Amino acid sequence: MNIKGERPVEKNPLHLPVLLNEVIQYLAPRPNQNFIDATVGGGGHAERILELTAPQGILLGFDLDPQALVIAEQRLEKFKERVKLFQANFTEIKEIIYGKSEIHKFNGFLLDLGISSYQLGSESRGFSFQTAGLLDMRFGPTVNNLTAAVILNEWPEGKIKKIFQDFGEERYSQEIAKEITTARKKEKFHNTKQLVEIIESVYQNKPKPHKIHPATKIFQALRIAVNGELDNLRKVLPQALELLQPKGRLAAISFHSLEDRIVKQFFQREAKDCLCPPEFPVCRCGHQKQLRILTKKVIKPSREEIKQNYRARSAKLRAAEKLSN
Ligand SMILES: C[S@@+](CC[C@H](N)C(=O)[O-])C[C@H]1O[C@@H](n2cnc3c(N)ncnc32)[C@H](O)[C@@H]1O
Repeated sequence: MNIKGERPVEKNPLHLPVLLNEVIQYLAPRPNQNFIDATVGGGGHAERILELTAPQGILLGFDLDPQALVIAEQRLEKFKERVKLFQANFTEIKEIIYGKSEIHKFNGFLLDLGISSYQLGSESRGFSFQTAGLLDMRFGPTVNNLTAAVILNEWPEGKIKKIFQDFGEERYSQEIAKEITTARKKEKFHNTKQLVEIIESVYQNKPKPHKIHPATKIFQALRIAVNGELDNLRKVLPQALELLQPKGRLAAISFHSLEDRIVKQFFQREAKDCLCPPEFPVCRCGHQKQLRILTKKVIKPSREEIKQNYRARSAKLRAAEKLSN
């Protein structure tokens, strides 16, 4: 299938770490410092951090995806006992670290959200609308029993429409949800191709979205719903802050505006002292700022990086430093 605005998905592609130089610039790893990579994936960012924190810096890496951890393990093997990998949801990171690690405060914390090229290229995962994959879309087998197929085959029309609207900001959420619930009466959804055909049929006589395939937003919405991505992000950010030592740095790369908004608002909130409404004459909340924002404007990949790594095109990086109050 040749889809305008999208590059062909390679099988087993190499995952190039996104905004690598910028992440390193903001996290500023130095010899013997300790880091958390909460989304270690194929270990690209982790590898560079470990090189720069030699000879004794420790990196704890987390991922929900056991296949990603196998790749990370091979790539990071050379760092021996300086790396510890955990198959877990980053929403449980504080509990795992307090329970299993001797180090409880870190110099840096990285979140590189979304999916890797390995996951996108795997047909059995169903993340890509460019191949006829299974409708799974879970980051890992332990997430829950909710898959994209369950949503499409079992959820009521109104609930499907709502996720397309809320998580995909899809203009034709209503029509697409209606077509899905009509189509499934004849045949259940088994693969991504069936879904792409429905979306393309709804868009047939409508203006197409600019630069992206019409299925992009629906696939994004399903993935966010299946993995509870926005809630996960809301849960991990305060834990990241707690796990940083003073002057420790937090960097977050997001791939769509919904995630970026959560990161931006968290940073803004934690960079302010009082959060009381302006009409309160004195502060009642007692909130104290804990962060200094390092990226006044969101950081985006250069044209050069996008040329070399098309997946980087929608990446947005924000970084902040923990204050020493
Ligand atoms: C963009 S990739 C990370 C790539 C990595 N930085 C590299 O350089 O290879 C994002 C990874 O985060 C993982 N992930 C997404 N949500 C997660 C969560 N809630 N807990 C743990 N891992 C998660 C995905 O499985 C995926 O492997």
